Amino acid sequence: MKAFVYRGPGKKALEDHPKPKITAPTDAIVKIVKTTICGTDLHILKGDVPTCQPGRILGHEGVGIVDEVGPAVTMYKPGDRVLISCVSACGKCVYCRKQMYSHCTTGGWILGNTIDGTQAEFVRTPYADTSLYPIPNGADEEALVMLSDILPTGFECGVLNGKVQPGSTVAIVGSGPVGLAALLTAQFFSPAEIIMIDLDDNRLEMAKRFGATACVNSADGKAVGMVMKMTGERGVDTAIEAVGIPATFEMCEKIIAPGGNIANIGVHGQKVALHLECLWDRNISITTRLVDTVTIPMLFKTVASRKIDSKRLITHRFGLDRILDAYETFGNAAKTKALKVIIEA
Ligand SMILES: NC(=O)c1ccc[n+]([C@@H]2O[C@H](COP(=O)([O-])OP(=O)(O)OC[C@H]3O[C@@H](n4cnc5c(N)ncnc54)[C@H](O)[C@@H]3O)[C@@H](O)[C@H]2O)c1
Ligand SMILES: [Zn+2]
Ligand SMILES: [Zn+2]
Repeated sequence: MKAFVYRGPGKKALEDHPKPKITAPTDAIVKIVKTTICGTDLHILKGDVPTCQPGRILGHEGVGIVDEVGPAVTMYKPGDRVLISCVSACGKCVYCRKQMYSHCTTGGWILGNTIDGTQAEFVRTPYADTSLYPIPNGADEEALVMLSDILPTGFECGVLNGKVQPGSTVAIVGSGPVGLAALLTAQFFSPAEIIMIDLDDNRLEMAKRFGATACVNSADGKAVGMVMKMTGERGVDTAIEAVGIPATFEMCEKIIAPGGNIANIGVHGQKVALHLECLWDRNISITTRLVDTVTIPMLFKTVASRKIDSKRLITHRFGLDRILDAYETFGNAAKTKALKVIIEA
């Protein structure tokens, strides 16, 4: 089968690989129908994710058709159409019983990281019963690909942890696919204001169309002052960090109102300053989270009923044979205006 393989920092290839086999009774083999590329895959290609070793097939998102199941799989049979969660969950360990699937002691984010992923014709999915979701007949499968990772990430790590409330004021720093997913799902709770902050005017333009009430380009270094002015010098009730660099987390610390919540989503590779000298008396909360994908069933319904039009996040489509072009397009978003690229296997 064809598969996209990480070959070490800066090196990648579309290669022929043997089709995966069932290795545990709880496994399924899924024939990929559609997959996509995540910002995290770009981090891996740069060499930022040491758990992912050269030789690994990348990808942790997608929809497909069950091809084969292990003897302990009871929920699925060959021919069933399924959504693949980016997080594999045994359903039994201490963290799974707390619905913290991201910390499953034998699962978590392993697909396209410590085991081969979805950017291939077939993938082996461990713990199929508790890591796959059935796709009903007639569902829009492209829209559902956004449920493997980015919608639950924006919602769980950003909106739920940030305690977005009716009438509240929210700022989302970073208007990439994850920031935009937070923007879409924050609107479940009817906040009064959602201010989007980014360096890229095209992405801010998208944000405006997705429901942002204000957009701030922070390239001139004046974003903090602008947000404070917009909020009557009070700051925002929820500040969601969706970039993953020190400057954007520190921006959240500067724009948070007393009693507010800073919800970090970004993957940080560098030390970030915590300014307790400014924050100790402000009654704020700071949260961190690795997406658990525990909200997939709920989000599934909102996508199926078109309460959320997740398809609007898709800007480009490629066949698996052109996945190298797909990476070029996705990796040069400022030029190509790419958000999510769909890859059809
Ligand atoms: N916590 C989790 O479980 C989880 C899951 C998935 C992704 N992530 C992380 O979420 C983050 C966002 O993901 P994405 O796919 O949307 O990434 P992305 O790189 O596509 O988007 C980041 C956005 O931030 C903007 N940006 C960069 N520097 C900025 C600055 N100084 N000020 C304002 N904006 C700036 C970019 O223009 C871009 O639009 C990444 O760090 C990703 O690794 C975390
Ligand atoms: Zn991802
Ligand atoms: Zn578990």
